[in-house]
Amino acid sequence: MKVLVTGGAGYIGSMLVGRLLREGYEVRVLDALLYGGESLLPVWSDPAFEFRGGDIRDADIVASAMQGVEAVVHLAAIVGDPACARAPELARAVNLHASLDLIDAAERSGVRRFIFASTCSNYGRMADPEGYVTEDSPLAPVSLYAETKVAVERALLGSGPTRALAATALRFATVFGVSARMRFDLTVNEFTLSMVRDRRLVVFGEQFWRPYVHVRDVAGAVLHVLRAPVASVGGEVFNVGSTTQNFQKRQLVDLIRGWAPDADVEYVARREDPRDYRVSFAKISERLGFATTATVRDGVAEVAALVSAGIVPAAPGTA
Ligand SMILES: NC(=O)c1ccc[n+]([C@@H]2O[C@H](COP(=O)([O-])OP(=O)(O)OC[C@H]3O[C@@H](n4cnc5c(N)ncnc54)[C@H](O)[C@@H]3O)[C@@H](O)[C@H]2O)c1
Repeated sequence: MKVLVTGGAGYIGSMLVGRLLREGYEVRVLDALLYGGESLLPVWSDPAFEFRGGDIRDADIVASAMQGVEAVVHLAAIVGDPACARAPELARAVNLHASLDLIDAAERSGVRRFIFASTCSNYGRMADPEGYVTEDSPLAPVSLYAETKVAVERALLGSGPTRALAATALRFATVFGVSARMRFDLTVNEFTLSMVRDRRLVVFGEQFWRPYVHVRDVAGAVLHVLRAPVASVGGEVFNVGSTTQNFQKRQLVDLIRGWAPDADVEYVARREDPRDYRVSFAKISERLGFATTATVRDGVAEVAALVSAGIVPAAPGTA
């Protein structure tokens, strides 16, 4: 099967592309290389790998990239609340309008499966502080980033079985762990970097809950959906993560202390955080038999070792 991965040079994409190639898929990446393309060096010479440099806002490039493709994994986006708030027009153009056009282009060119990278941020703040949100819980996006994701989900899944392609939205938990395009703006990675390298961290709103998932397990979940019968994934939403890996920020700090016992951590009180959610991942486990392989503790160990070894990022002043 030939798979088009948009955003394939990114944090999740570069992990996914390697995995797909190892599992025998042909992979075409379409990416504008906003963060460079070195993450693709390990797969560059693989005969089953193909790269198209370009922007998903360009209809001709998208139409050409769709040719001969059976499945699309759409990851390309302006990612996260801060990035979208800094460039709202760009975020709307890429995350919303270009994504909707991409879905139409996929349908026109006969793509059979379409997987959309969505986010658990869509839940905003949980109504019941003692409970867990599920795929059926109301969505309450509180940022432009989540608004664009919710809008694409609705367009993708709203027309239900009338769509010729089997569309699936995957709501990823906040991702952690090491990938070839490293991100240190994600909570677990960021906290680990600050505590292990800088011995200092400021935490806003220590009591708020979020779910976390390893980047390798995100790739595993995408693979599960690609392999599942169309009838079990078409028109469906799945949260991607593990119910056991919901943490309060303070719990993350306590965990990372094992690698940075002397780090100076300052807590800044926040009564309100519009994003406070504990998520159930029962559906993907029960329907698709998906299970994560790495805990947050595993990810902290991995990132702490990377940082301690000075591999990435370089310590200040050494670049
Ligand atoms: N990382 C997380 O914690 C997380 C959580 C939930 C959902 N997601 C979603 O997963 C997807 C991938 O996230 P990531 O963490 O790998 O982000 P990333 O920023 O590392 O990767 C995004 C990739 O998309 C490319 N891109 C951006 N705009 C483009 C455009 N206009 N045309 C072509 N390519 C473009 C970038 O060059 C980059 O390689 C995103 O859709 C994101 O919203 C990520």
